[in-house]
Amino acid sequence: MNYSAKVMDHFTNPRNVGEIEDADGIGEVGNAKCGDIMKMYLKIEGNVITDCKFKTFGCGAAVATSSMATEMIKGRTIDEALQLTNRAVMEALDGLPPVKIHCSVLAEQAVKAALWDYYTKQGVDPEPIVGKVPDMEEE
Ligand code: FES
Repeated sequence: MNYSAKVMDHFTNPRNVGEIEDADGIGEVGNAKCGDIMKMYLKIEGNVITDCKFKTFGCGAAVATSSMATEMIKGRTIDEALQLTNRAVMEALDGLPPVKIHCSVLAEQAVKAALWDYYTKQGVDPEPIVGKVPDMEEE
């Protein structure tokens, strides 16, 4: 399987791995295709994601896409984070082999799940803002 240099870089040297103890939103999602799990922690001030970290039991492609996704949403607004797609993350990594596309969905869904948790904790109905966090049967 051919991985781009950027994928290898983010896999061997992943950014933002770990937990945030006083996170404002925590999302955990599972990948129906492989059973792997991703947990995403967000720190939010005002409307801005000031910090984010992730932990995953996923494969190398999941590590690399999550690393890149956290880099892409850190310092951005919630709206911008909600617009982040797994495709944009894959493009930023110069692509993934087709059989690994489902791995990249894990990060996108975990960000949405963490924002869902954030709004729920604020007493705000998350669904109109975040949309449904779909199960990951399809890619
Ligand atoms: Fe499960 Fe990649 S094989 S996340």
